[in-house]
Amino acid sequence: MIRAAVITMSDKGSRGEREDLSGPAIKEIVKGIGARVDFYEVIPDEKELIKEKLIEYSLLADLVLTTGGTGLSPRDVTPDATLEVIDREIPGIGEAMRAGGMKKTPRSMLSRAVAGVRGNALIINMPGSPKAIRECLEVILEVIPHAVEKIKGCAADCGNGEITR
Ligand code: MTE
Repeated sequence: MIRAAVITMSDKGSRGEREDLSGPAIKEIVKGIGARVDFYEVIPDEKELIKEKLIEYSLLADLVLTTGGTGLSPRDVTPDATLEVIDREIPGIGEAMRAGGMKKTPRSMLSRAVAGVRGNALIINMPGSPKAIRECLEVILEVIPHAVEKIKGCAADCGNGEITR
């Protein structure tokens, strides 16, 4: 069982002015890999607050998924906050989401989403719409359990149970 936290970055959502549809979409989709979302919050696009929450949830969960704030507007600071708290970046996850998303929309390239490891937790940024969530998770979902195992120090041979195309 993967223990997950979902954080939605949205100024309007945090003020109750917009219903968050992306967080619930993530909760539903990650059931597919047996993840249980124990923590869920909608917070404003404030870099220091985002850093605090990433630090807090990476102590409590195996997987911290964020949605929103990855774009180019001045208030989009999720990747910047994430880069300041991770120990190691995993560039391939962001690259895969953008490459997969390009098959659906060229705007995929505008997301600056990053992923990385903090302590024993895997942190992954995603863009802020339910459509983008579905498209991103479609690409990366299957590798998350293996990534979580590896972060925890699982020494098993990577060839076992490998997903081959
Ligand atoms: N990626 C996918 N797969 N599908 C999408 O619809 N939307 C893009 C991009 N990534 C999109 C996507 C758009 S329009 C923007 S502006 C950026 O993500 C940043 O979104 P965010 O600021 O909500 O994080």
